[in-house]
Amino acid sequence: MTNLDQEPGSAPALAPEILGYYAQGQEDGRLRAGAGRLELLRTQDVLRRLLPPAPARLLDVGGGSGIHAEWLTAAGYQVELVDPVPLHVEQAGRLAGVRARLGDARALDAADDSFDVVLLLGPLYHLTDPADRARALAEARRVLSAGGLLVAATINRFAGLHDTLNQGRWFDPERRPYIEAVTRDGRLRSENPRSGFTTAYFHQPAEIVREFTAAGLTLLGQYGVEGAGWLMGAVGDWLDDPTRRESLLDALRLAESDPALLGVSGHLLTAGRKSEAAR
Ligand SMILES: C[S@@+](CC[C@H](N)C(=O)[O-])C[C@H]1O[C@@H](n2cnc3c(N)ncnc32)[C@H](O)[C@@H]1O
Repeated sequence: MTNLDQEPGSAPALAPEILGYYAQGQEDGRLRAGAGRLELLRTQDVLRRLLPPAPARLLDVGGGSGIHAEWLTAAGYQVELVDPVPLHVEQAGRLAGVRARLGDARALDAADDSFDVVLLLGPLYHLTDPADRARALAEARRVLSAGGLLVAATINRFAGLHDTLNQGRWFDPERRPYIEAVTRDGRLRSENPRSGFTTAYFHQPAEIVREFTAAGLTLLGQYGVEGAGWLMGAVGDWLDDPTRRESLLDALRLAESDPALLGVSGHLLTAGRKSEAAR
């Protein structure tokens, strides 16, 4: 079965290697310790500036085990979470106030115009077919109310190259051709056991803007999540120190939306709005 094959009326199937990867259960701890905290802190920093005041209705599509649903619920948002991985739904469903259910970004089971905010922090980089990404964006727009906010995460095209350099693995002759291929066309080939990740698509910053526009979303802005910070070896230590942590966040805010630097970041957030007049 391919990603697009489906029974009439049912949700599309997720690629089995993606399901298998997340079934290993590593996602819940990914952003809670070490340098991974930079992605969490910076995503929070950007979202807090973009979101409407609580309480607002928020759909967290591909919300994983609820890392963002947890703090957003605590902040007073009415959060529903959808994810295709049963373990993630089970973990998120245990969080107080979070309503979690199985689902796929390409076929949301929510009514038209029913959310003030949709987060797509994961699905777009696991959908390698542009038609699938267009479906996910069309679904997000459909369930948003007029004037509603969409924030989507993508992985930047050069993330694999930068990460590999940072780890000193570029000098490994077996790894290099694989990274060259990902950097050329953006497709991370999950069949390669050395990838450390699963099937994914790595966007250019301008490419996701075109996808938003094609889906009828008005661009609000783009934000490098980690900026260049993820390439600095001391970043985990800086995050341990509350004073340095805040100072680091100040520094990353300075350069977060500079067009020349967007692609340096590992992840990128793109924000858009469904127009007030839209149906
Ligand atoms: C790296 S995790 C990110 C989790 C969380 N949103 C975050 O920002 O940390 C990617 C998530 O996207 C989910 N995902 C992958 N394909 C999806 C799809 N087609 N529809 C919805 N979610 C999907 C995965 O199950 C996983 O939970």
